Amino acid sequence: IKITIIDREGEAHTVDAPTDMNMNLMEVIRSYELAPEGTIGICGGMAMCASCQCYILNLEHMLPEQSIEEEDMLDQAFFVEENSRLSCQIPITDDLDGLEVKLAPESM
Ligand code: FES
Repeated sequence: IKITIIDREGEAHTVDAPTDMNMNLMEVIRSYELAPEGTIGICGGMAMCASCQCYILNLEHMLPEQSIEEEDMLDQAFFVEENSRLSCQIPITDDLDGLEVKLAPESM
């Protein structure tokens, strides 16, 4: 599927994301190096750091509900908006073809 990711400099990148590799959105962002190493995915995708926060620009209704862990983490994070999600909590599925997200500013 194709996902468009706007990096922290405001540049948009449309990338291929595999649906058959058990990846989450944070891992896709990392694999294309759209955020500097060490500024995203710090907790390894455990919903415990919020370094992978992104703003969801479309297809919001296609995403899984937030878990308690994700809600709690976003309660404590900086730069949180209505459409904030932790990208490590978003599995890549066929439903997300055409998804557009923007990375939240670096918070550490
Ligand atoms: Fe830490 Fe997503 S990688 S909360």
